[in-house]
Amino acid sequence: MITDKNNFFKLDTNHTTYLFHVLESGHLEHLYYGRKIRCMDEYRLLQEPHAIGMAYTVAHDQEDTAFCLDTLNFEASGVGKGDFREPLVDVVLPNASFTTDFLYHSHTITDGKPALTGLPASYGEADDCQTLEITLRDAALQLDLILSYTAFPACDVIARSSRIVNHSCDGIKLRRAMSLQLDLPDKDYTLVTFDGNWGRERRRHDRPLEYGISVNDSKTGNSSSRHNPFVMLRRENCTESSGDCMGFNLVYSGNHAEIFDVSTYDRVRVLTGINPFAFGWELKPGDSFQTPEALLSFSTEGLNGLSRRFQRFANDHIVRGEWKNRERPVLINNWEATYFDFDEDKLVAIAEAAAPLGVELFVLDDGWFGVRNDDTTSLGDWFVNMDKLTHGLHGVCQRVLSLGMQFGLWVEPEMISEVSELCRKHPDWAVRVPGRTPSLGRNQMILDYSNPAVCDYIVDVLSQVFSSCQLSYVKWDMNRNMSDVYSAHSGEGEFYHRYMLGLYGVMERLTTAFPHILFESCAGGGNRFDLGMLHYMPQNWTSDDTDARERLEIQRGTSYGYPLSAMTCHVSVCPNHQTGRTTPISTRFNVAQFGVLGYELDLTQLSPDHRKAVTEQISFYKEHRKLLQFGDFYRFERPEQENAYCWMVVAPDQSEALMGYYRVLTQPNRTSELLIAAGLADDKLYDVDVIVQPMHLDEGGQAVFCGNTEKDHFCAYGDILTHAGFRPKQASSSHYGNSDAMRLMGDFSSRLYYFKAKKQ
Ligand code: DGJ
Repeated sequence: MITDKNNFFKLDTNHTTYLFHVLESGHLEHLYYGRKIRCMDEYRLLQEPHAIGMAYTVAHDQEDTAFCLDTLNFEASGVGKGDFREPLVDVVLPNASFTTDFLYHSHTITDGKPALTGLPASYGEADDCQTLEITLRDAALQLDLILSYTAFPACDVIARSSRIVNHSCDGIKLRRAMSLQLDLPDKDYTLVTFDGNWGRERRRHDRPLEYGISVNDSKTGNSSSRHNPFVMLRRENCTESSGDCMGFNLVYSGNHAEIFDVSTYDRVRVLTGINPFAFGWELKPGDSFQTPEALLSFSTEGLNGLSRRFQRFANDHIVRGEWKNRERPVLINNWEATYFDFDEDKLVAIAEAAAPLGVELFVLDDGWFGVRNDDTTSLGDWFVNMDKLTHGLHGVCQRVLSLGMQFGLWVEPEMISEVSELCRKHPDWAVRVPGRTPSLGRNQMILDYSNPAVCDYIVDVLSQVFSSCQLSYVKWDMNRNMSDVYSAHSGEGEFYHRYMLGLYGVMERLTTAFPHILFESCAGGGNRFDLGMLHYMPQNWTSDDTDARERLEIQRGTSYGYPLSAMTCHVSVCPNHQTGRTTPISTRFNVAQFGVLGYELDLTQLSPDHRKAVTEQISFYKEHRKLLQFGDFYRFERPEQENAYCWMVVAPDQSEALMGYYRVLTQPNRTSELLIAAGLADDKLYDVDVIVQPMHLDEGGQAVFCGNTEKDHFCAYGDILTHAGFRPKQASSSHYGNSDAMRLMGDFSSRLYYFKAKKQ
């Protein structure tokens, strides 16, 4: 896996190779990252020749005037010695100088992977991975930079981080400490990012890399829905199913930056880590600073191949505890059904309607505590509102349990309302700048998690709540971005990261104390959808936007970097509360089932038809849940100019698969599309069920849904289905009217294809 020979390092995974070596000067020259190669001694062919210096460069060494740092590729770069690209590390000394030069000192290779103190990180046993730690030293400053590389062969992922240790007798200030540097030899890449905002998270955007610097980042205090920390570089001809690409992610939930510095020597430096914006860290003599972990993967099998690597990695090496790779329950959440307006009987009525449908978990959302009847009060007051819940949490929980369902609860522990007992008692626990009126977000302020007393209080009070009834699930929400950042407990530039360390500490203590609870992370929907959260909380509320059409885009975007098991997806009422759009209940389910399924509507109001439909949906989902939460996911290029979406999930042993096909707006007079499956075994014979909710044209020519789900059926070998394809029944109307042999697809309609391998 990891080999070292004469100061040459080779990190192999099953399909990739990463190469670098120590130059005579002591710098680490990066040589290669990409598809697996055999290279051992031939690595010298990849070394950058420097017989004569390039014009107008700074010679690093007076003895060797041809050697300059600006034209080579490195593993780690400092500042001030002639490399004018963005650095991995930037420090300032008490005398205001800021030149650094990190040179090889020593290295170790060990089996397995050490934990990162205080931070979420990937993990693996000795037979999963190997770790190389290289210590670089700036002798003049007595400052060490320790680069850590862990290769996970089965997932083709390399985990990286940096640690800075101050051995000098002076205090040093870190201005930047990034996790990963990757210098690529050419710039012919398209950068792919996942951008958005509330209700429209993680939409894919592609643009070619250009000279200069491109930054994908967040400054909101969380990883944010504006720009997710997962990013990709793809070659121009790389598609979903073929071509070369690489991906980067961070195991971190705070301010982050992914920097792409394209030099005029046509090289790219990639840096990922904590956002240098508003960052600073005091390193006293003897102190060290550990960066968050960055992940790196490469695929020759297109973007789907890259996604599958990251998805498996998250399931196997990020998510921990009792819920790792364990099927998640189908839930009903009362938020869109009641908002703040509920009492015990109203909640129990929803639970009573849910139980016979097959729902397994009832989740009580916001509004159960303090005097919270709207979003202006009570955050921080984690005691029950006895006016609403006359028998306390225990009372409502017992009634839910007696229906044969589990009970779950919403909390928002990182917040404090101005109107709250907590704020009256501890006004200094709210994050704000002395002498300034704080700006509010959703009428609330942030609790100062950089203060250890706040963290202790939250652990205590939540432990009491979590023990007060038989809780199986907790939804952990965070409903604002940070402003007015200041804390007496944080030095200059330290607050954002100290906050994250405090938060991770709280989560570590609570998830350890309550290992059976399934935690779901949420931030006003998907404003903190990242691997740091997934390390503590195995699933994440993907978006507050539950509209099926919007969800196609949101879930598709999210799937590039995250597994289906991480994405919670709810069927809600129509007209939809976020968009006002009406979509068929079959499509709402057909979208939501590709992930962790829930319902979020007043089930007491369901029509008999919809009750029947939902019962069938839940039983179908339970039958295929393992596939839908943990299978290999494939996206297809969007057919017909974005007018349709298609994706597919395949069991790792290729014994079964499910494809979802979704029409956005229908068009008349279209021929049937050729659908080409993915991931099936060539030599397996598959039974294929086509599951549709049939439509017909009424007398006025309007497409209306009729009757129950219908199934068509055919049988074919995997090689035909994946290499040649198949044509579904005609879906589009024409002026010749209708026929029983067609399956009309109206606006927002969908079809499912279920593939089951015959026993051979
Ligand atoms: C935002 C979440 O995303 C919603 O699902 C809901 O829990 C509300 N907060 C409650 O305030």
